[in-house]
Amino acid sequence: MTAETLGVVLNGVTGRMGYRQHLVRSVLAIREQGGVLLPDGSRVQLEPLLVGRSDDKLSEIAHRHGLTRWTTDLDTALADPGFPLYFDAQLTSVREKSIARAIDAGKHIYTEKPLAESVEGAVTLARQASAAGVKNGVVHDKLYLPGLRKLARLVDSGFFGRILSVRGEFGYWVFEGDWQSAQRPSWNYRAEDGGGIVVDMFCHWNYVLENLFGAVRAVTARAVTHIPSRVDEQGTTYDATADDAAYAIFELDGGIVAQLNSSWCVRVHRDELVEFQVDGTRGSAVAGLHRCVVQPREVTPKPVWDPDLPETRDHRAQWQEVPDNADFGNGFKAQWEQFVRHVVADEPHPYDFLAGARGIRLAEAGLESSRTGRRVELAGLSVQASV
Ligand SMILES: NC(=O)c1ccc[n+]([C@@H]2O[C@H](COP(=O)([O-])OP(=O)(O)OC[C@H]3O[C@@H](n4cnc5c(N)ncnc54)[C@H](O)[C@@H]3O)[C@@H](O)[C@H]2O)c1
Repeated sequence: MTAETLGVVLNGVTGRMGYRQHLVRSVLAIREQGGVLLPDGSRVQLEPLLVGRSDDKLSEIAHRHGLTRWTTDLDTALADPGFPLYFDAQLTSVREKSIARAIDAGKHIYTEKPLAESVEGAVTLARQASAAGVKNGVVHDKLYLPGLRKLARLVDSGFFGRILSVRGEFGYWVFEGDWQSAQRPSWNYRAEDGGGIVVDMFCHWNYVLENLFGAVRAVTARAVTHIPSRVDEQGTTYDATADDAAYAIFELDGGIVAQLNSSWCVRVHRDELVEFQVDGTRGSAVAGLHRCVVQPREVTPKPVWDPDLPETRDHRAQWQEVPDNADFGNGFKAQWEQFVRHVVADEPHPYDFLAGARGIRLAEAGLESSRTGRRVELAGLSVQASV
């Protein structure tokens, strides 16, 4: 067994995602378990260098977790050859420039989504990374959720027969910030700061759909701002200029129709904050973040529509639980481990900058559809071909 260390520049660790999911639940959890297991049985340990705008906040986080390296100067961090991997969980609007600098410094890059603010910016980064020969990856966390991994298992097994449709509900009520503080940062509700539910969620929907069911070929969407005014972290009222709900139909390869609602203005009457129902000729499934239930063709009941009679059937009881059959762990950590193996041992990690760019392409197409009232086709707009 050989012990190796991989230095990781972590930018944006004072933020919600950067701190909780990436620093604490991924990088520090990996350190605690003794590093990432490599295919040859050895382990690589992670050595973080924290980067941010506030020395006080960084030093507080470092001391809380027994870390010794932090800086408010990104260039100093990027100039250090002891840290060959750069990670970015900053605000979306400042990501592109920082990643470009990190590529110029020869770093491998792993980043939160969206990769950039435009598909053009994302493709430029993909090109730059490819020319520099650095490994690159974008967070695809939803694919690592237990519910979606069970769904992927069902697809792989052929359980569905021919898949017909996918319908998904994502969302919950995000407080306006007046009489109760909002549970998401206010920049999410300002278009000028990179906010908006289409930009946020369509990046996720693109990789979920293309990896589980088929590439998206067309989108018809309606994005709206239901709540036009909110109150920020300082108690100041601001105009919510970004969309806070999107109602979309995605047409996939193989004729599958996916209809997904995304909303921060909906109250939850579901088992989980996200749920997908997949219907196929041989069976159906409903998956959330954790659970997944199925109803095969052979045990499908025959409901009869009768509005005169009160409902006596327990429809949910007619579905069967898909067992875990594996220890899924934290999805962000699992992807960190996969990306580290990609960097150190050249193991596969298919979720690269081009995959990130395709997600942004879908968000742009969704916004275009909403603006013009038209169905937007994605055929012939392959990001791959333009790189
Ligand atoms: N994968 C997911 O499920 C998921 C979920 C939420 C957010 N995100 C992404 O993670 C990123 C961070 O989101 P968050 O919710 O943690 O946001 P946040 O506001 O909590 O954190 C933003 C971070 O960026 C830093 N920052 C750098 N420059 C800044 C500037 N000029 N103004 C303000 N902050 C600046 C902040 O200091 C902070 O560390 C976003 O790109 C978002 O799209 C991903």
